[in-house]
Amino acid sequence: STVYLNGRFMPIEEACVSVTDRGFLFGDGVYEVIPAYGGRLFRLPHHLQRLQDSLDGIKLSNPLSELEWMELLENLLQKNQHRAGVNNDQSVYLQITRGTSSKRDHNFPAEIHHTVYACSNPIPEPDPTIEHNGVAAITLDDIRWSWCNIKAITLLPNVLLRQQAGERGAAEAILIRDGYAIEASSSNIFIVRDGNIITPPNSPVMLPGITRDLVLELAEQQGHAYREDNITEEALHSADEIWITSSTREIVPVTRLDDAPVGNGLPGPVWKTMLAHYRRYKD
Ligand code: PDD
Repeated sequence: STVYLNGRFMPIEEACVSVTDRGFLFGDGVYEVIPAYGGRLFRLPHHLQRLQDSLDGIKLSNPLSELEWMELLENLLQKNQHRAGVNNDQSVYLQITRGTSSKRDHNFPAEIHHTVYACSNPIPEPDPTIEHNGVAAITLDDIRWSWCNIKAITLLPNVLLRQQAGERGAAEAILIRDGYAIEASSSNIFIVRDGNIITPPNSPVMLPGITRDLVLELAEQQGHAYREDNITEEALHSADEIWITSSTREIVPVTRLDDAPVGNGLPGPVWKTMLAHYRRYKD
């Protein structure tokens, strides 16, 4: 595939980053994942705003303007279009680090030369068994830091948590902080209770998901009862439905939690309705 690195497009095999890069040494950088359906970048302004917020959060300037980002990403999608299916659905990954330092020093370098990287990959067709059966999730203690609103490349806690989930046959780990369900290792969470859609309010301990916001927008448009509210661990375990959302997974029903069925153990009716609205919006 073709990737973008520091101003140039090149085959992925030729893309190299220095071992003195602060992304490599410190995880000192931020990233975004943006889906593109039929070659069109989905909710690009929202993703670029969140990227700006992440950069502000780590005190790193934005190396490109919105227009430059748009041109870069559209170019990248075009160059990789031959790898995507007929529907040309791709997901873009981009990351920006604080560049190289002459020596390993926690302090920011006096002069910053960002490392800017972007690649794109085909989005696989949704898995029909997931839509039929849902997925399993487990709850784990949220061991991450207090600035999870920043989409930092430093993902070791998320990696360790997801690995634990995988080893227990689950697709996601839902993270509990101070008795509340916050989000999952790489997705946001929703529950349904007596027909109401509930998701935690945005705060520094979770990522403000673009998919999450869209689900709330669609609920509002459809006149479906919803609210942003804290979800206790008990409320999670007694929910009628649980969903996880992300740019790469859309809306996925969780039908088993900690080895017990969620509701009746099948993907729920509210999930089905919201996914249909989501797909209609997408097209
Ligand atoms: N992850 N919460 C976390 C911790 C995430 O990593 C993600 C996305 C989300 C969902 O956000 P959005 O709807 O904007 O994709 C929530 C991406 C997909 C990833 O790390 O690959």
